[in-house]
Amino acid sequence: MKSLNVHAESHCYPIIVGAGLLDSAEAVNLLKPLIDNRKCMVVSDSNVAPLYAALVSSALVKAGGHCAETAIIDAGESSKTLNTVEGLYHEAVARCLDRRAAVVALGGGVPGDIAGFVAATFMRGTRFIQVPTSLLAMVDSSVGGKVGVDLPEGKNLVGAFYQPEIVLIDLNFLKTLPKRELRCGLAEVVKYGVILDAELFSRLEDCTAGLLDYDLELYEEVVTQCCHLKAIIVGEDEREQSGRRAVLNYGHTFGHALEALGGYTALSHGEGVAIGMGMAADLAVTLGLAPAELPARQDALLSALGLATRYTVSSLAPAQVLQMMYRDKKVESGKLRLVLPRRIGEVELVADVDEEAVLKAIGGRCG
Ligand SMILES: NC(=O)c1ccc[n+]([C@@H]2O[C@H](COP(=O)([O-])OP(=O)(O)OC[C@H]3O[C@@H](n4cnc5c(N)ncnc54)[C@H](O)[C@@H]3O)[C@@H](O)[C@H]2O)c1
Repeated sequence: MKSLNVHAESHCYPIIVGAGLLDSAEAVNLLKPLIDNRKCMVVSDSNVAPLYAALVSSALVKAGGHCAETAIIDAGESSKTLNTVEGLYHEAVARCLDRRAAVVALGGGVPGDIAGFVAATFMRGTRFIQVPTSLLAMVDSSVGGKVGVDLPEGKNLVGAFYQPEIVLIDLNFLKTLPKRELRCGLAEVVKYGVILDAELFSRLEDCTAGLLDYDLELYEEVVTQCCHLKAIIVGEDEREQSGRRAVLNYGHTFGHALEALGGYTALSHGEGVAIGMGMAADLAVTLGLAPAELPARQDALLSALGLATRYTVSSLAPAQVLQMMYRDKKVESGKLRLVLPRRIGEVELVADVDEEAVLKAIGGRCG
């Protein structure tokens, strides 16, 4: 088992990583001071709940929690709505949850973001515990306190910063994660290597087979390192004010646009990010920021992990993608701000990027 701490300005909390964690006495000991004699509501989705809700409820009960049944939402991004949140408020009232209660997110980023938003707002804030089950949630969404839901107009448009009390990462949960979802999480893992950690990037290059083969020892090392990197960034810029936290968006402005243009079905988040990182890397070369060989090295790793680095789903005009990029939350005063690599392990936030160069980078990978 590994443990590390997030030192966010608003709140410090531990992240514990290990295979079999939720089945262990350690999890019960960690949970006891947080939930002893409190009501709990586990929020999970229709895929994850049948697999792991009983295990998690049992750990909560052993830790002294008064645990009602799990509230189950439909699996998938389409559940990330205010409607789902309202349904969970009604469930919370029906279960007599009070301000001392704890909301426990069990699942990928979707249940995590929704449960966190419920925890942040129900009775003006209850305790919040993250038990991520997808690789993406383990390395990214469960850490850092961004919670919220989508609107029909766009993703993650309503939300809050609300840190959990603890993040419990049981690597055994990865065993049932579908391969496509595993790959999506791996896109975010590669992202950490490019933005912050050249050594992690090289390590990933050396162990692609083990990663695709669900090697849990390897995942203990990789997930812990990604959480460590995210914890550093969140510690420096919890509410995305200094621009430091924006580095985590490497590839995301391009990726979100591709995801949106595919109607959120053609490409998943991680698949969009993988192609988006390719576009950002090409753009960095065009702008003279990055060495010419960087995109090929990044592509080679992503391809070895089974991720596409070009958009081939349908034909898209680069101008369409650019237009969609301007809708990104990260756009400030109508100007695109993009995270671009200088070398593997180092990126820069570049404001007011030349549009022609952006169009060229998009066109090079789709169309
Ligand atoms: N809050 C943040 O900082 C942050 C960061 C990145 C992404 N996100 C959000 O995260 C969401 C994407 O996360 P995701 O990819 O985890 O989505 P998800 O929660 O929809 O999970 C993906 C799929 O995997 C299934 N699944 C999850 N764990 C499983 C397991 N162990 N075994 C079997 N099936 C399992 C789910 O049921 C779902 O079908 C998006 O809504 C995105 O906006 C949030």
